[in-house]
Amino acid sequence: MSKIVIGFWSQTGNTETMANAIGEGVIAAGKEAEVLDISKIAAKDLKDVQVFALGCPAMGVEVLEESEMEPFVEEVEKISNGKTIALFGSYGWGDGQWMRDWEDRMTAAGAKVLNGEGLICQDMPDESVLEECKNLGKQLAAI
Ligand SMILES: Cc1cc2nc3c(=O)[nH]c(=O)nc-3n(C[C@H](O)[C@H](O)[C@H](O)COP(=O)(O)O)c2cc1C
Repeated sequence: MSKIVIGFWSQTGNTETMANAIGEGVIAAGKEAEVLDISKIAAKDLKDVQVFALGCPAMGVEVLEESEMEPFVEEVEKISNGKTIALFGSYGWGDGQWMRDWEDRMTAAGAKVLNGEGLICQDMPDESVLEECKNLGKQLAAI
């Protein structure tokens, strides 16, 4: 049974909470989930993984976190052609530009972004966002 990898970067836990809820959705749908801080994986670990999710909050000025996540995503772009990816993350005061840019990048890298412009939520995910996360996990598991 193939595992669905859910990799995230999170500073204050909001994106991590989303990642865990996506993992719960995967498990509820009967598949195995591996929810991992991206510091614990390398892009090459995803080379043979067909379906995965990546999460990162809006950082800097509407960008991915620059010291760990950005270099990780640059490597993931090289192996993303033909893969199905879901994107998610929390933001504070912006309008989601970082996520639209991220979706464009992954699409340009040849990936199919499962959830359009990504699943985003302001600050801490509430119950309805957690439900959306679980549904996203179920969608990932159904591929
Ligand atoms: C250094 C820094 C830069 C940030 N830049 C943005 C930004 O450009 N746009 C935005 O909407 N939120 C921004 N935020 C807010 C975070 O995205 C928000 O607090 C988010 O919930 C953090 O998610 P996390 O708990 O997963 O780390 C920034 C936060 C920090 C600490």
